[in-house]
Amino acid sequence: MNMKIAIGCDHAGFSLKEDIKLYLAKEGYDPIDFGTDSPSSCDYPDYAKKVADAVANGSFRFGILICGTGIGMSIVANKTKGIRAALCCSCETAQLARSHNHANILCLGARFLSPEEAKQIVSTFLATPEEEGRHRRRVDKIE
Ligand code: RB5
Repeated sequence: MNMKIAIGCDHAGFSLKEDIKLYLAKEGYDPIDFGTDSPSSCDYPDYAKKVADAVANGSFRFGILICGTGIGMSIVANKTKGIRAALCCSCETAQLARSHNHANILCLGARFLSPEEAKQIVSTFLATPEEEGRHRRRVDKIE
């Protein structure tokens, strides 16, 4: 199993990204940080693009992107071919994003989740397999 996870954020997601990196390492994953590296104001598209490219080119199976709402990150990441970025606000949406939509990037809204909720969502996302059959057919239509 590929344990490397590409992770990125903007200033609004910086603190949560640091928490999630520690959590991933504790769980045996290898988080690779694409920035930003401080809480100073920056532009979320720059970091969404870096992580989306790293997943789309096959260097990483999964990415995690965090901004204030998760919305900007998901809009940008989904412009890269091969990326299915899902903004998830609960374990249930994370599970469905993986099983039904075969999402390869998880987007989180730092201003709407506690660190504990976010860790549970990350854990669910990474542990949930893709369902085949009608779900594969629908994902193939996206591509
Ligand atoms: C930054 O203030 C905020 O706009 C950004 O983190 C994000 O929520 C954008 O979608």
